[in-house]
Amino acid sequence: MNEQTPTVAMEKITSLARRRGFVFPSSEIYGGLSGCWDYGPLGIELKRNVKQAWWSAMVQERDDMVGIESSILMHPKVWMASGHLKGFSDPLVECKSCHQRFRADELTEQKCPACGGELTAERQFNLMFKTFIGPVEDGSNVIYLRPETAQGMFVNFDNVLQTTRRKLPFGIAQQGKSFRNEITTGNFIFRSREFEQMEMEYFVKPGTDEKWFEYWLSERVNWYVKHGIKREHLSLLEHEKAKLAHYAKRVCDITFLYPMGWAEVEGVASRTDFDLKQHAEASGKVLDYYDDETKEHYVPYVIEPAVGVDRALLAFLCDAYAEEPDKEETRVVMRFHPSLAPVKAAILPLSKKENLSNFARDIYKNLRTSMATQYDDTQSIGRRYRRQDEIGTPYCVTVDFQSLEDNRVTVRERDAMSQIRIPIVELKKTLLAKMDGEDFLVVPPGGEVVQSKGKEA
Ligand code: GAP
Repeated sequence: MNEQTPTVAMEKITSLARRRGFVFPSSEIYGGLSGCWDYGPLGIELKRNVKQAWWSAMVQERDDMVGIESSILMHPKVWMASGHLKGFSDPLVECKSCHQRFRADELTEQKCPACGGELTAERQFNLMFKTFIGPVEDGSNVIYLRPETAQGMFVNFDNVLQTTRRKLPFGIAQQGKSFRNEITTGNFIFRSREFEQMEMEYFVKPGTDEKWFEYWLSERVNWYVKHGIKREHLSLLEHEKAKLAHYAKRVCDITFLYPMGWAEVEGVASRTDFDLKQHAEASGKVLDYYDDETKEHYVPYVIEPAVGVDRALLAFLCDAYAEEPDKEETRVVMRFHPSLAPVKAAILPLSKKENLSNFARDIYKNLRTSMATQYDDTQSIGRRYRRQDEIGTPYCVTVDFQSLEDNRVTVRERDAMSQIRIPIVELKKTLLAKMDGEDFLVVPPGGEVVQSKGKEA
């Protein structure tokens, strides 16, 4: 394991997330609900961007992938067949004095960490939330909130195969909420009871699974790096064979250097034919594949990259966070990759005078049809830049009185604080090109570099 010290304290992240409206405790006015979180105006934009970046890489940009969205409530037999009713549990102990419950495998001593009291013997605690379907609350109507999205893909394997006429290898991807009644939650949104997953089941010919496992592991690491995570803040952790989940032949975690240390952001699992076989047996339906080339029927093997949206988002928040000296103060800047930044551009008129406001508002209205844009005309320009830096806006567009004359605006880039002045007609195209990776100092016709590395007022 890569030994490194975390780059940012969790309090800095939670405080920025709270202050700027990324994440709030759920039901906060009632004191919060443990293990549940709400995404605020900036948080939801960031979350949608993370999900879009995943969907783009996993579905949109590929020939061998389709998406689905299955229901959260599923037939209880699904969880019987998948092994979750029997095996999806954690060992739990209870303190005989204060009655708090703890995960036995997380305790270092055989006494209550809260009050020092004596603990009960270990018992298995199933992590699935139970509820009832229909108006009658009896045992025959018990159903579960799904603890993973994966089973939705397995039970739809044949539907997808028949309707899309796919050939192996191919994958089914889905994003959606999952629920686990975790005994211990914590580390902000890292482990919660309601969270969102992005999972993909890649069906392959048995015998080719090792090759595809390696392929997906490297694809997934590259995805984080492409979207701004430093490679040295990611690491791989192979699970010991003896500790593998009930369905797995091989599991490797992609771990990230969170403020509390290295921890799993994503798991890549080789699930063999376990799930399809279990569901075929329990449902009596045939869930296999006919191979045109070899003229045989077989049950495909499965490689599954599975990531929690919230955990990935926390990793992106932590890796983006930076503090820099700025005169007597500190500049806090979220260096989000432009594809993930909740706001891409801010329109900042230098005065509230009506003629300039109207002019700047027109630029704003035009730009926001192509990207998330904010309009801000309050306080000094320095303050406004800092506010945008703190939420990770890559580009600030300043509109001044000269703009009324020359139809040009100044664009300032968040990280180096360089500035270019460009024609307004080129603004949208230029910002889209920069977001796509074009060097910031490349200017369109009629533009010029004003400041190649910023020192601003
Ligand atoms: N289908 C396989 C599966 O669900 P998992 O390792 O239990 O595997 C996959 O979960 C991912 O879901 C994890 O890597 C993590 O990112 C996320 N996840 C799991 N439990 C979570 C929780 N309680 N809170 C937030 N994210 C969670």
